[in-house]
Amino acid sequence: MKGIVLAGGSGTRLYPMTSTHSKQLQPVYDKPMIYYPMATLMQAGIQDILLISTPEDIGNFVRIFEDGSRLGLNISYKVQKKPEGIAQAYTLGKDFLDTNDSMMILGDNIFHGDHSIIRHAAEDNGGATIFGYKVRDPQRYGVVEFDEHGKVLSLEEKPSKPKSNHAIPGLYVMDGEAPCRAVHLEPSKRGEYEIVDLIKTYFEEDQLTAAPLGRGFVWLDAGTPSSLNDASSFIRTIEERAGIKIACLEEIALREGFFDGDSYVRMVEELPDSPYRDYCFSVLE
Ligand code: G1P
Repeated sequence: MKGIVLAGGSGTRLYPMTSTHSKQLQPVYDKPMIYYPMATLMQAGIQDILLISTPEDIGNFVRIFEDGSRLGLNISYKVQKKPEGIAQAYTLGKDFLDTNDSMMILGDNIFHGDHSIIRHAAEDNGGATIFGYKVRDPQRYGVVEFDEHGKVLSLEEKPSKPKSNHAIPGLYVMDGEAPCRAVHLEPSKRGEYEIVDLIKTYFEEDQLTAAPLGRGFVWLDAGTPSSLNDASSFIRTIEERAGIKIACLEEIALREGFFDGDSYVRMVEELPDSPYRDYCFSVLE
């Protein structure tokens, strides 16, 4: 399985913070936002990753991750010239995916909890898998409605009258057909290739699974000043309480077995002298 991180968009909801750096480079407590979605893909065991961003911002991501080998990854990059919708990630990623199944994550989505739920959903995928997460304000998101057996009844993008409280987080598992399906989508009224329309093509063929992320799981998006601030506070609270770091990519790569202990030590020695590096060393103890 391959991974895609979509880190595009104009980030206008965070202006003026985004006047020099894109949304996904803003700090979420002690790391750039992009670390969190990268961590989610890595915790699903994914090493082949395509990062999609704007012409202005792509260079900053290259500066952070280079080819990914430092983290045991293989990272490629693609420019999204205009933000024309999330489903465009699949047309832009067609060559990269090359008929492989994929997990795609939005660059401002943060997941915290037992990632085995996500890993298993990916392993069991036949067609497409989305997740559902109960929220107070579903009209801000894609919304999925289930029946009492967990069967999907409807899917809507930002409905004014949501049929359920289950938002669709920005994490999608799709089979190798996704790019071909995405090519045939029509732009919506707001002129975007909607991810919900792509998901509906699987739904209509009975090839869609929706996995609820239960109450023990945390899903945050960080696309507005208040949600960004909430995300930072959340990460800080957990990290300080437990003395751990969430989304420390070096640690995840080690735990996932992307390299051995000796290579890990060499890689961490190269990091700037910082509390982050101290933490990376501490996980060996
Ligand atoms: C996008 C998707 C929406 C999804 C959300 C998750 O909305 O269109 O279906 O629920 O991401 O963050 P956006 O945040 O781009 O408005």
